[in-house]
Amino acid sequence: MSTPNRDVTEAAVGALPGAVNPMALSLNENPFPPLPSVRSALVSAIDAGNRYPEFLPERLRTLIAGHLGVRDEQVVIGVGATGVILQVLNAVTRPGDRMVMTSPTFDGYPIFAHMARLESVTVGLDEHGHHDLDAMADAAAKARVVVVCRPHNPTGTVEPAADIERFLQRIPADTVVVLDEAYVEFLAPHHRIDGPELVARYPNVVVVRTFSKAYGLAGLRVGYGFCAPELARELWTMQQPFGIAITGMVAVAASYDAESELEQRIRMITAERRYLRMRLRAMGVYSTDAHANFVYLPPWGRQWREVFDGTGLKVRGYADGGVRITVGSRQSTRAVVSAVRAALQ
Ligand SMILES: Cc1ncc(COP(=O)(O)O)c(C=O)c1O
Repeated sequence: MSTPNRDVTEAAVGALPGAVNPMALSLNENPFPPLPSVRSALVSAIDAGNRYPEFLPERLRTLIAGHLGVRDEQVVIGVGATGVILQVLNAVTRPGDRMVMTSPTFDGYPIFAHMARLESVTVGLDEHGHHDLDAMADAAAKARVVVVCRPHNPTGTVEPAADIERFLQRIPADTVVVLDEAYVEFLAPHHRIDGPELVARYPNVVVVRTFSKAYGLAGLRVGYGFCAPELARELWTMQQPFGIAITGMVAVAASYDAESELEQRIRMITAERRYLRMRLRAMGVYSTDAHANFVYLPPWGRQWREVFDGTGLKVRGYADGGVRITVGSRQSTRAVVSAVRAALQ
């Protein structure tokens, strides 16, 4: 090996995104850097970086299963929720099968469908950003997989539990439902669905979650899914050997130990979201009824994205003119409000 080249290291470290950046509002990341307790646990994991992680992430699975109150064999682990969704598609689909999703949806879904060589069938949202669950159930009759995000990305909307129940009753038993709960921790308790109870009644439902959003660990890439044991066994056959980095287990354990500090951060983010929506409303700007760490402004006759061009703010614009803005600090909110105000003048 050659002598270490510090310039290259410096360049690589310099290329890392800044943990705190009030202008970075395009990826629905958590605005807070890892908690000190999580960080110090992670340093210990890095100190064992010469060792492989577990062959299959069984201890991590036990940890997450215990936290959820399900059996170990109901849980699968992924490289982010992304990894879990790909694992589901690898396990249950064949090229040419259909996958039903909304439009717009989380950007990953069309990519995942493409990767698994599936035919994407899209169903539009209504003008307030809600799913048309009846149309999705109709489309799912001939599909292998159907995806419902709750809260939805990009609109942040939440379909009522009773509507989800009616929808699930209409889905054929051999169609797999991905219930994407990437943002579930931001939901008020009365909006939450009892996931373990739901998968006990619907053996074709996989609930997918992540440590990227409320837990603030997007860079570490840990997600999980849980479902009925029979389906989980099928998914576990696609569990990649040594696939979860050695940091995964300690990151999750330390996060569970820091639950109350994380909940405090979640409260700060949801309070900031309410404040941002209130400021937008006061300027006459409609945003959808958002329940996660972002707000969505539907199209308004011109591209919302243009409003933020040149302001330094990074937001996620959509082809139809809508925009999704991640909730950050009060500084982020001020920057968003002043960009919108300038556009309205
Ligand atoms: C609805 C939804 N599902 C899944 C993901 C993927 O998250 P992860 O970072 O865990 O792969 C995202 C990320 O933005 C998302 O918005």
